[in-house]
Amino acid sequence: MSSVPTVKLNNGYEIPVLGLGTYKALGGEVEKAVKDAIDANYRHIDTAYLYGNEAEVGNAVRAKIAEKIIKREDMFIVTKLWSNFHEPDKVEYACRLSLKNLNLDYIDLYLIHWPFSFPHISDNDSWPVDGNGVAIVNDDIDILDTYKAMERLVDQGLVRSIGLSNFNSEQITHILNGCKIKPVINQVEFSPSLNQRKLIEFCKERGIAVSAFTPLGRPNPQLKTPAFIYDDSVIEIGRKYNKTSAQVVLRYLIQCGSIPIPKSQTKERIQQNIDVFDFELNSDEMSVLDQFNTGHRIALLPALKHSKYYPFNIEF
Ligand SMILES: NC(=O)c1ccc[n+]([C@@H]2O[C@H](COP(=O)([O-])OP(=O)(O)OC[C@H]3O[C@@H](n4cnc5c(N)ncnc54)[C@H](OP(=O)(O)O)[C@@H]3O)[C@@H](O)[C@H]2O)c1
Repeated sequence: MSSVPTVKLNNGYEIPVLGLGTYKALGGEVEKAVKDAIDANYRHIDTAYLYGNEAEVGNAVRAKIAEKIIKREDMFIVTKLWSNFHEPDKVEYACRLSLKNLNLDYIDLYLIHWPFSFPHISDNDSWPVDGNGVAIVNDDIDILDTYKAMERLVDQGLVRSIGLSNFNSEQITHILNGCKIKPVINQVEFSPSLNQRKLIEFCKERGIAVSAFTPLGRPNPQLKTPAFIYDDSVIEIGRKYNKTSAQVVLRYLIQCGSIPIPKSQTKERIQQNIDVFDFELNSDEMSVLDQFNTGHRIALLPALKHSKYYPFNIEF
């Protein structure tokens, strides 16, 4: 098993170019999935306070440290600040909750999960709604103030790197215009159907890496969606390299300059998804994948459209 290549972030830390996603992995299954992933040579794990599985991720990492399979510094653990903790004086509190859940001394990368803010009603009231079921947002919080509170976590040694998730180009510019510590990453939805070339270029010019969530478009074998997983043209490319279409897609996303974080809780697929470093797609094959760019977004969150911080009202 060879190790996964890394990307150097703008603060000098290195992140493995592929990680394990953990969203909606079933409770009780995440710990096993992370252990299987570490055995398969994953060193980058993506979780979030919202997912409710930080404790399982931490258990798996600590178990593998105890087994002497890894050292803490070999791992790159990403977690995220949820939107009900955006008040600047709640940020350190939220970070300490995540650290306590993970039972680790520091977080490698702490992201602002989404740019919109909710009021903090309680720690676990993640989606406050009014009597009509409409999401209650708090647009009075300037997301730059939230970010500045994140910077203090770096100064305190609680987190090594900070970054953004689901931020559009204007929101990134707003952060860059007022920050002391540059965000290292913007994590966004990125798959062949949502080709984020413009956002990647924008981020690259500013020294920000892009990690790709929902990279496989959440395959549905019954409906045979998304097309890029089930289409003969992609299966054919895979046949040439003895790979599945999911592996072809992950390779494509890496060659586009992103850091995919496919989720799986199935040992065989966990192993399959990291086995993408022994082949390279040529430009014709990259163009085949480019054809699937319909702009279809899975994480659209239309219920948040009324927030001034909703990120999808501009092109990128
Ligand atoms: N920042 C954000 O706002 C945000 C939003 C969404 C997601 N994320 C992160 O990104 C991660 C990945 O995104 P996602 O979970 O939405 O979608 P995804 O990784 O595109 O798809 C996950 C689905 O693909 C299946 N799968 C995995 N590998 C496969 C393979 N080789 N062949 C066929 N099917 C395969 C999984 O099934 P099995 O598990 O049964 O194998 C699971 O049902 C999340 O887990 C989370 O960590 C972040």
